[in-house]
Amino acid sequence: MRFELNGKHVDVRAHAMKRLLDVLREDCGLTGTKEGCGEGECGACTVLLDGQAVNACLVPFGQVRGRAVKTIEGLRGRHPLQQTFVTEGGAQCGFCTPGMIMAAAALPKNATLEDVRVGLAGNICRCTGYSGIYRAIEAARQKAEGGKAAGGTTKAGLPRRSPKGEGGKSARGRRA
Ligand code: FES
Ligand code: FES
Repeated sequence: MRFELNGKHVDVRAHAMKRLLDVLREDCGLTGTKEGCGEGECGACTVLLDGQAVNACLVPFGQVRGRAVKTIEGLRGRHPLQQTFVTEGGAQCGFCTPGMIMAAAALPKNATLEDVRVGLAGNICRCTGYSGIYRAIEAARQKAEGGKAAGGTTKAGLPRRSPKGEGGKSARGRRA
């Protein structure tokens, strides 16, 4: 089956009913896309299909013929979100992170905090409590705009990250 994968035209032999998630991990060797629930509930497997965030565990491979798939590997470690998830505490165990970043990458550039909350409603994180994730997305947007909000809060009103982590606690002691 021919399709575009992370900007390159590829031809992958796999059953049309095989899950895109499994094709990516097993046939393409791209293990950055994770499996959590396997039933469309957690968002860990989020990839972009023609620029839209989809759960790869719910997409039969046959549906990607002639279309463009982008995975976390397609961001090549250079996307602003990949930096701000680190600097803003958006990742802890990291299992949800590829899916979170791909879902965030699909948001419009002018997304409000409410848009971010709604856009990521299908992505579950057991570690961060979400504020670090929202902060990371906003920081990436500000980077893209080349600006910064002043004071102890971000433009969206989220408290800035303490050097010691949420609420001044160490990252290890944090709870969702
Ligand atoms: S593994 Fe696909 S939504 Fe959970
Ligand atoms: S960082 Fe662990 S599940 Fe989100």
